[in-house]
Amino acid sequence: MLFCAPLFTFVSNAQNYPKTPEMPADAITLRSPDGQLMLKFAVADGHPQYTLERAGKPIVLPSRMGFTLIGRKSLDHDFALTNTQTSTFDETWEPVWGEESSIRNHYNELLVTLEQHGALDWQGKVIPRATVMLIRFRLYDDGLAFRYEFPYENALTYFKIEEELTEFAMAGDHTAWWIPGDYDTQEYNYTESKLSEIPVKAEAMRRTYDGVWSVFSNSAVQTALQLKTADGLYLNIHEAAALNFPTMHLLIDTAGLVFRAALTPDAEGVKGRLQAPCRTPWRTVMVCEKATDVLASRLILNLNEPCAIEDVSWIHPVKYMGVWWEMITGKSSWNYTDDFRSVRLPGDEGEGITDYAQAKPNGHHGANNANVRRVIDFAAENGFDAILIEGWNIGWEDWVGNQKYYVFDFITPYPDFDLPALNKYAHEKGIRLIMHHETSSSTANYERWMEKAYTLMNQYGYNAVKSGYVGDILPYGENHFSQPTNNHYHYAVTEAAQHHIMVDAHEAVRPTGLCRTWPNMIGNESAMGTEFKGKIHPGHTTILPFTRLQGGPMDYTPGIFQTDIGKFVSWQQGNRMCHTICNQLGLYVTLYSPLQMAADLPEHYEPFMDAFQFIKDVAVDWDKSLYLEAEPGAYIVTARHPKISSLNKAADGVGTLADGKKGIISGATRFVYAIPDTVETCHGASLQTPRDVWYVGGITDENAREVEVKLDFLKPGVKYEATIYADALNACGLPENNSQTTNHNSLKYNPQAYTITKKKVNSKSVLKLRMAPCGGFAVSVREM
Ligand code: NOJ
Ligand code: CA
Repeated sequence: MLFCAPLFTFVSNAQNYPKTPEMPADAITLRSPDGQLMLKFAVADGHPQYTLERAGKPIVLPSRMGFTLIGRKSLDHDFALTNTQTSTFDETWEPVWGEESSIRNHYNELLVTLEQHGALDWQGKVIPRATVMLIRFRLYDDGLAFRYEFPYENALTYFKIEEELTEFAMAGDHTAWWIPGDYDTQEYNYTESKLSEIPVKAEAMRRTYDGVWSVFSNSAVQTALQLKTADGLYLNIHEAAALNFPTMHLLIDTAGLVFRAALTPDAEGVKGRLQAPCRTPWRTVMVCEKATDVLASRLILNLNEPCAIEDVSWIHPVKYMGVWWEMITGKSSWNYTDDFRSVRLPGDEGEGITDYAQAKPNGHHGANNANVRRVIDFAAENGFDAILIEGWNIGWEDWVGNQKYYVFDFITPYPDFDLPALNKYAHEKGIRLIMHHETSSSTANYERWMEKAYTLMNQYGYNAVKSGYVGDILPYGENHFSQPTNNHYHYAVTEAAQHHIMVDAHEAVRPTGLCRTWPNMIGNESAMGTEFKGKIHPGHTTILPFTRLQGGPMDYTPGIFQTDIGKFVSWQQGNRMCHTICNQLGLYVTLYSPLQMAADLPEHYEPFMDAFQFIKDVAVDWDKSLYLEAEPGAYIVTARHPKISSLNKAADGVGTLADGKKGIISGATRFVYAIPDTVETCHGASLQTPRDVWYVGGITDENAREVEVKLDFLKPGVKYEATIYADALNACGLPENNSQTTNHNSLKYNPQAYTITKKKVNSKSVLKLRMAPCGGFAVSVREM
């Protein structure tokens, strides 16, 4: 993220927050269903405050709640508690896609009503009605959630937030895995440090890190924030169902080890413009005994509303390739010509509309007909559902850094991209094209074109779009995570749903579980992904499932087999990625996403087709997931069982087109269950009773590790064959002299060395698997 100048005030340090008094003896209490977690809430001297304990141990010490408002009495004092209500809820729901086919949502709830008097109207007269603020608490076995609600009957109707005062007072100097608080990006490596070290480490990062963009304080971090206490509990602070509200960051007061909410301001500095009745997003504190329980937690999804889309038959998991990595690495370009310094698109005001028909092609435009056909062919042969093509539309010669309002139209292809013909070609091979809408952060321009752009997609049978928000947000002065911009991302998803389009937004706000309600949000980036190449620190992908993925799946774009970028792009000498091929295979199991890419170029897979077989085989949607071992920043081992019901939808969808093939077995289904080419239809008996299959994956940071995987999840008494893809003994994914770690070993960088072995196994078998530095493993286990 370049070209951006911060427009906001830098908060040099969090002020020391006044200590919140102890909870009064008559505080209201609420327990989790298993009785382990206990919430206490009280209005002490007019101030709302809460604590959280687990089995008698403090998790959150007395912490204040409320808001300061612009031009109005603050919502943090002078309150009286006028009502309390408790209830219990227990349901099991089925996600459209996910890590398992059913999810239990079980909590105890406490709703408190607080009233304050003395609000003034715009003439300075006291309003006779009370200011009413409700706080709804939900206590699950794995954490606490609460949100603020403002009913219609209220002295407040329209009001503006100056700051949220919610605190999370920590009971110790925990270890944290954090990225700096930033109003515009989450594309950072994580830092592991004690809470008390955050400001010092953040300052050091700002001085040395070339990715720093809109960091607003050395004391600020983003959520989801993963923490570990000295006695081994895993805590996680985040938010859920963030709608029509700015994104919450956390500011630490290191003296008291207290976090306080810090909302993202809009262009005028306002941190939320509300209209009663309304409610805030949920604030969450997860508490788990084991790291694997954090990965298994569905707290954030459960706090979101049920699915809002009635007919979900068009939503399906997608395994895809792309005309993309070649642009990211610099081998080819998004732009068609190198000749235009300034582009004015047709329909724009002013002089000099750019004439692409007269443009001299630069000779290395990636999205050209021949190259797209080549990738379609490879993807079709290997069982993929779709390919993404970026740089297909006019405007890329002048798209970022100029705060240009009319930057793309999303409907006009370059002269060498024959959209109708390429779609026909793809559909004949059972492949969908994925649309690309880089908005260049000109959200108003995107909204202006959205209907036409989605209609074009419908016309040609595109059913998924990758959108992007690179650069400063337009309208000028807005932030990526402010309330108006967050509303834009949501608008794009709901409008897409009207058109039966699935969305994968890059650079948009990090997710908060909204994919439960809008399952057409099949992906999001919102963290540092593969595109950062050699800058990604070892262990990064062992942290993401604890942090970024808590809110929803990530389009991480794994699958890079040629890790040394300098080998195919001369000016990228020394840009070597920290992983082995087997680490990349492991990611398909450890890093959940229903939208999963094989991001490398066909010619980089061709020499390693035996290892590529795992990517062809692995499913991307699951009925069961088991988190076998994990530690943030170190390693993850996961086993998953595919969900057959969703597998074939991608192929069925293509079949609704005139030139499609209805009723075929999708490549994905065929490979997941190893169905021979001779079996023609998916609706027969062969798919009703496919052979059982599990996929297991492991990844590690710069430290080599050995793990034992007990296969006790297999059906007892049944014989299986395991195909094990493992790092070779001399494999090493850590480049020598890598500046991101001090942990070096005697091995030479050797990321492409692996072994593939087959073994007969059953539910009593235990696999011993070794992972190289920055390595991993993958195993498919098939019923014989
Ligand atoms: C940033 C996205 O993350 C990347 O995937 C995309 O290729 C570029 N923007 C261009 O849109
Ligand atoms: Ca990005």
